[in-house]
Amino acid sequence: MGKPAKTYVCAACGGVFPKWAGRCEACGEWNTLEEQMTPASLPGGLKASPHRRGAKLEFVGLEGVSPPPPRVPSTIAEFDRVLGGGLVPASVVLVGGDPGIGKSTLLLQASAALGRAGRQVIYISGEESVDQIRLRAARLGLAKSPVHLAAATQLGDILASLAQFPDAALVVIDSIQTMWTEGVDSAPGSVTQVRAAAFELIRAAKTQGFALMLVGHVTKEGNIAGPRVLEHMVDVVLHFEGDRGHQFRILRGIKNRFGATDEIGVFEMTSAGLSEVANPSALFLAERRGNVSGSAVFAGLEGSRPVLVEIQVLLAPNPGGAPRRSVIGWDSGRLSMLLAVLETRCGLKLASSDVYLNVAGGLRVGEPAADLAVAAALISAAADVPTDPQMVFFGEIGLSGELRQVAQTDLRLKEAAKLGFSRAATPKRVAGGTARLAVPKGLAMVEIGHLTDLVGAITTGAKPGMKHEED
Ligand code: TYD
Ligand code: MG
Repeated sequence: MGKPAKTYVCAACGGVFPKWAGRCEACGEWNTLEEQMTPASLPGGLKASPHRRGAKLEFVGLEGVSPPPPRVPSTIAEFDRVLGGGLVPASVVLVGGDPGIGKSTLLLQASAALGRAGRQVIYISGEESVDQIRLRAARLGLAKSPVHLAAATQLGDILASLAQFPDAALVVIDSIQTMWTEGVDSAPGSVTQVRAAAFELIRAAKTQGFALMLVGHVTKEGNIAGPRVLEHMVDVVLHFEGDRGHQFRILRGIKNRFGATDEIGVFEMTSAGLSEVANPSALFLAERRGNVSGSAVFAGLEGSRPVLVEIQVLLAPNPGGAPRRSVIGWDSGRLSMLLAVLETRCGLKLASSDVYLNVAGGLRVGEPAADLAVAAALISAAADVPTDPQMVFFGEIGLSGELRQVAQTDLRLKEAAKLGFSRAATPKRVAGGTARLAVPKGLAMVEIGHLTDLVGAITTGAKPGMKHEED
């Protein structure tokens, strides 16, 4: 083998290059290449063993079933929901989120809950001192919970200590960016260190059988700092998000090898830590004021869970120059599309107005089903007429202004009825189309075929379309 050659790895995309450059050729980011030593260090400083004769693999067919993975529920229902029913032994979960959003608080609460449920839990912090964590535990009323706590950053010490806990169910590492291993010759937090430390910890989790939770910092762009490969190395990636100006926090599944992604857990940050929010719709609609133009309630879906949120629009006159389009909580490209459809297909004049769109409460909506609610809010703002305060909206809008069906209509209707709404504006059902819909009692469906119907309905204040009473 030749002498170790230098290679350079991109901190943003994980691309490896033989030469340093100011800009990563793979992802185009500037100043992200860092030196890494090879080939002595395969991931985690493993030695290559070129002389070992490979053992023969045993191949099997696709048939046959494995039992579902066992789960260790944490007793925090919102947390378990996102994981798909609890922690899977020997699995690795990466939790990312902005600084100060509450990652450490969440993991300390989850650790304490598991500890109280009789599991062995280890919490290792590289960011805070033991005293700081104890202070937090006292504030959360968790000081008596059985958790093995230590402040450490040196991976060798950590691995040696973990070996003494063969029954550990959960190990929390807060955060992976602070961990470093002597086997790798670069600074803590660098791509090489983060990757090597994660690799060693993951290997310990797989051999000892504990669930590993890693806290990961996020960059300005919201990606988990360090190489994207970290996301590939783990089984589950969760994002803890929220607006620090608001109290609620959302734990969102980004990747889950053992369950559905797109699930959310909703929490509220209180003076006594994070408390679960079992009914997020009520929380998001709590501050809604009826009879204001530019507002519409969207019956959305987060994973398998219906969530009602208020969409707010403000139009401000902009006589000269390029009008502003400012969007919080929704896709700005979709807003542009909707504005274009409203202008060309419905004759609404919006080109000389600044448009501000906000999803109230700070939730991020990703569904195209929000089109109809956004359109309703825009039309209501333009006409200065409030939308029906008893009505929820959902439906996708096509480029010709036609409405398209969206998934899980029944779930959305049920949630709307549960929260006391009495009408739902939805896309018109095609004759002979999908299966019979169970419309909840007390809810009337207002089916809309084309966006012009909605414009007519809101601007004249009339209720549009055919009315379908509950069947
Ligand atoms: P923290 O868990 O330290 O965030 P992270 O680990 O993601 O950086 O949370 C810190 C914030 O949470 C801090 O601004 C204070 C707030 N907080 C509360 O409001 N109530 C509480 O009971 C706790 C423990 C924290
Ligand atoms: Mg923290």
